[in-house]
Amino acid sequence: MAIIIGIESTAHTFGVGVVKNGKVLSNVREMYTTEKGGIIPIESAKHHAKIADNVWVKGLEEAGIDEKDIDAIAFSQSPGLAPCLIEGMKFAKGKAEELGVGLVGVNHCVAHLEIGRITGAVDPVLLYASGANTQIIAYESGKYRVFGETLDIGVGNFIDNFARVIGVGFPGGPKIMELAKKGKYIDEVPYKLKGMDVAFSGILTKLQQMYKSGNYKIEDLAFTLQETVFAMLVESAERALAHTGKNELLLGGGVGCNGRFQEMCEIMCKERGCKFFVPERPLLVDNGAMIAYLGEIMFRKGIFVEDEGIEKIDIDARERTDDVDVKWKE
Ligand code: ATP
Ligand code: FE2
Repeated sequence: MAIIIGIESTAHTFGVGVVKNGKVLSNVREMYTTEKGGIIPIESAKHHAKIADNVWVKGLEEAGIDEKDIDAIAFSQSPGLAPCLIEGMKFAKGKAEELGVGLVGVNHCVAHLEIGRITGAVDPVLLYASGANTQIIAYESGKYRVFGETLDIGVGNFIDNFARVIGVGFPGGPKIMELAKKGKYIDEVPYKLKGMDVAFSGILTKLQQMYKSGNYKIEDLAFTLQETVFAMLVESAERALAHTGKNELLLGGGVGCNGRFQEMCEIMCKERGCKFFVPERPLLVDNGAMIAYLGEIMFRKGIFVEDEGIEKIDIDARERTDDVDVKWKE
């Protein structure tokens, strides 16, 4: 039996989740938001520091456990915004030392992947579409390999940027999705897929120009945006399925909340005879439960630090998914 508490703090969200034997007992999150513009790392880190204790207590309460029940603390060690990562690490180290338990350093992107196991996916190609990251990944010979990725910005940031241009606020994903429901396709936007890599900045420029011309309805722009970039991602994922010979697709990351995106993945999978998996929204966006979930897997394999090892552990703001040594799968 292991009870692991996970702490997420890589960007805008501070989350605490509790996992016991692969089951999520709680998943509490608070998000730093801005009225206008994007995220300011130092401000987001201050937000995390302010609310951390409160979210921690709620995470324990919802799980129905006491601090003394905790076997280890997992935290998102990489990658992300350095000030935010540091705040989460400070908090996790403090608690680990106070409670005399081990500390598990988790890669945030890999946690987005591993939590997919909860849906029943065994060995999927993962389409990881979040704010800052967009990658098509699969596990092969000891590593999560990146088969395709964005050559510029993440798909979520791309959608949020366009949402800012048309003045619908942050986060833009859900708002663009609503607008798109009333839109139709405009056949003027470039389709940017090279091999299995995608690029969004050219599409953003084009959509911006179209919006500024005043000749297009925002609903049609939103619809066209979604159809274009989701088709690129689904086609890249399909190529990865063909290349690896795998027959499961798992969608992850906040953009995976999009209903149309899920539908397009499902259609492709049906045509190929593959299975499609997508976790529930609270496990798709940044959250502490996914950190605890991977933390438990790592803890059970003895991958954690304790005592003086805790002081030495540090963040790695730039660690890539394919840098991670996936020792727990061996
Ligand atoms: P990362 O995981 O790369 O660090 P992040 O923390 O910003 O990035 P998530 O919390 O996984 O990412 O996702 C946030 C993104 O998801 C935002 O860009 C938001 O606009 C997008 N998003 C949320 N809901 C939807 C939706 N229904 N349709 C499209 N995008 C959405
Ligand atoms: Fe994330």
